[in-house]
Amino acid sequence: MNRSFLPLATAAALVLGLAAAPAADKKLDPSKLPAAATQAGVTFDKDIKPIFEKSCVKCHGTEKPKSKFDATTLASVLKGGKNAPDVVPGKSGESPLVYSVAHVGDEDDFMPPPDNKAKIPPLTKDQIGLIRAWIDQGAK
Ligand code: HEC
Repeated sequence: MNRSFLPLATAAALVLGLAAAPAADKKLDPSKLPAAATQAGVTFDKDIKPIFEKSCVKCHGTEKPKSKFDATTLASVLKGGKNAPDVVPGKSGESPLVYSVAHVGDEDDFMPPPDNKAKIPPLTKDQIGLIRAWIDQGAK
């Protein structure tokens, strides 16, 4: 009897594992995100850097950035942090950074962190839309 339990437990664990995978993917539900801005020619230096400088660089500067994510330059943003990639060029709906700033999905990843000591407020829908447009246009 004991012998048949092990394969059964393994099978159960496998099924559970398979069931858990789509649940994790569900967190990345682009329908919950603010729409991308319609503005053409969005670039990091012109449009995104000012947003990051105001709301992110306090914690994501070049010196010891949180989670190794340096938000100061296009190259460092594309490189990403510990959990890189954070930005997937061409695919804002698959870019973890977008979910973080839109406060969609895992609360632990919300950026800026809610109730942060620096009192930096969440990004606006317009700012998030601009970040989406920038990524969708190739993150240039
Ligand atoms: C008050 C500090 C603070 C501010 C402001 C802040 N963050 Fe963060 N950020 C953190 C911390 C802390 C972590 C690590 C979270 C963790 O490991 O659970 C983090 C992690 C991240 C990560 C994950 C990086 C990786 O690959 O591991 C991204 C992306 C990110 N932040 C983006 C942003 C963006 C974009 C902004 C501005 C809109 C921002 N953060 C503002 C503190 C901050």
